[in-house]
Amino acid sequence: MATMLYEGKAKKIFTTDNANEIIVYYKDDATALNGLKKGTIIDKGIMNNTITTFFFDLLGKNGIPHHQIKKLSEREALCKKVTIIPVEVVTRNVAAGSLAKKMGVEEGLVLKRPLVEFYYKNDDLGDPMINADYAESFGFATDAQIAQMKEYALKINDILKAFLLERKIQLIDFKLEFGVDSEGKVILADEITPDTSRLWDLETNEKLDKDRFRRDMGNVEEAYQEVIRRLIGK
Ligand code: TMP
Repeated sequence: MATMLYEGKAKKIFTTDNANEIIVYYKDDATALNGLKKGTIIDKGIMNNTITTFFFDLLGKNGIPHHQIKKLSEREALCKKVTIIPVEVVTRNVAAGSLAKKMGVEEGLVLKRPLVEFYYKNDDLGDPMINADYAESFGFATDAQIAQMKEYALKINDILKAFLLERKIQLIDFKLEFGVDSEGKVILADEITPDTSRLWDLETNEKLDKDRFRRDMGNVEEAYQEVIRRLIGK
């Protein structure tokens, strides 16, 4: 019998008969402003399972180890059980969101090179920004794990940026989470979706991501659907 191991803001995690595998269930719940703003994006769970599966397949083919074994159903994916490293890795190509605000620049400023940031995954603290020293000092991750995550983040950025550009989407920024598998290896986990990235139309700069929900811009479902259409042609 599957029991729920964990319920997060956008997903639930269930056990399976195999101690090394879990089932990820994608919900429609949407939150923003660190959980202060709550709502529903209709069929988001279905769309995000599809999008994550697509990106993880692409990354796997390009040599990035990740936790997903296979998509099981509309909202479920079978994944390797990992111990999540409590460090969110954000990679940015273009200033937007918190970076634009913090640095006092217009959203849309193209960065001279990709910027990788680390945040401590802790909702109560509002995910404070940290660096490698914090990670090592507090025992969140070792220096080697931080270096590995940064290397993967930049490689993933190269793969996704080039792929999305062909589909007329600019990869502005995205957040990754990594886990340690049963062999002690750092592998990509969590999700890659319009919830966890900024995706702008190449020609119009129209937002095709969760900023439409965060900023009450409307047409949220349509934007996610458009991403799927451009990725998969559906
Ligand atoms: P930010 O501009 O708000 O710092 O967000 C940068 C990117 O990281 C953006 O694509 C959204 C994503 N992100 C998450 O997925 N989860 C989070 O908790 C935060 C703060 C950002």
